[in-house]
Amino acid sequence: MPAMVANPSEAPAGQSQDPRAGRRPRVAVLISGRGSNLRALVGYFPSSAAPHWRVISNEPQAAGLAWAQAQGIATESVCHRDFPSRAAFDAALLARLQAFDPDLVVLAGFMRILTPDFCQALAGRLINIHPALLPAFTGLDTHARALTAGVRLHGATVHAVTAELDHGPILAQGVVPVLPDDTPERLGERVLEIEHRLYPQAVAAVLSGAMAWQAEAGRWVRPMRAAGEDDPGRAFTPLVLHPLLCGPAVTGLPPS
Ligand code: GRF
Repeated sequence: MPAMVANPSEAPAGQSQDPRAGRRPRVAVLISGRGSNLRALVGYFPSSAAPHWRVISNEPQAAGLAWAQAQGIATESVCHRDFPSRAAFDAALLARLQAFDPDLVVLAGFMRILTPDFCQALAGRLINIHPALLPAFTGLDTHARALTAGVRLHGATVHAVTAELDHGPILAQGVVPVLPDDTPERLGERVLEIEHRLYPQAVAAVLSGAMAWQAEAGRWVRPMRAAGEDDPGRAFTPLVLHPLLCGPAVTGLPPS
C-alpha cells in the first residue's frame, strides 16, 4: 500500500500512478454501537488535516451513527438482517466500501465476523481494535477472562484484519495495569481509555505512511526513508502505556 498523506499538499507530485495518491485520505469507519472510538478518531484530527470520513453501521439504530450525522459526516447503514447469509451481507458491504474507495477501513466496535473474501479484498487496508493484548484473549468478554486468568497487564491491540478472528498482525498496543479491586467493568473502562489514545495515533500513523503494510512479509513496518526526510509529524510509537504504569500500581504496593 502506498504511503497515504494527511495533507494533500504533502503528496509528491507525479511520483505515483496510484489514483489515491495526492487526494485527501478516505477513511471508512465501521461501527455497530455507541461509537466511542469513532468519536476519539474524529476528535483527534484537526479539521485542516482530517481525512474524508464515512461511517457505516450494520445496526441502523447505532448511537454512533446518529452522532456522526450530527457532525456532518456522511453515514450509511447496511443492516445484516436484510441479507440471507453472511456472504451476501459482506458482499453488499464491500460494494458500498468500494464505491467510497477508502484508503483505510477502520473497524471500531463492529460486531460482525467477516468472511475471508471480504478480508482478502481489503487486505492491507483493514484494521481493528481489540480490547485485549493479543494474542491473549481473542473473542468476547476479554476483561472478565483477563481477571479470571490473573494477568497483571491487560490492554488493547490494533491489528490487521485477516480471515482468522482477532489474529491479524499487530500494529500497536496499549497497556493498562490490572488493579487488585478491579471488576470487568472497571478494567474495561481503563482499557477503553487507552483505546481512545491508541487507535487515533495508529490510524494517523498509517495515513501518514509512518507505518505501512508489507504484503510480502504479512506485517506492519516502518518504511525506510531517504536521509533528511525525517518528519516529526510521522513519529509513531506503537506502544502506549497507561499513566498508572508509571506509579505504584506496577508493584502492587500501596502509595507511601
Ligand atoms: C471497544 O472496546 C472495542 O475494542 C471493541 O468494541 C468496543 C467498541 O466500543 N471492538 P465503541 O463502540 O467504540 O465505544
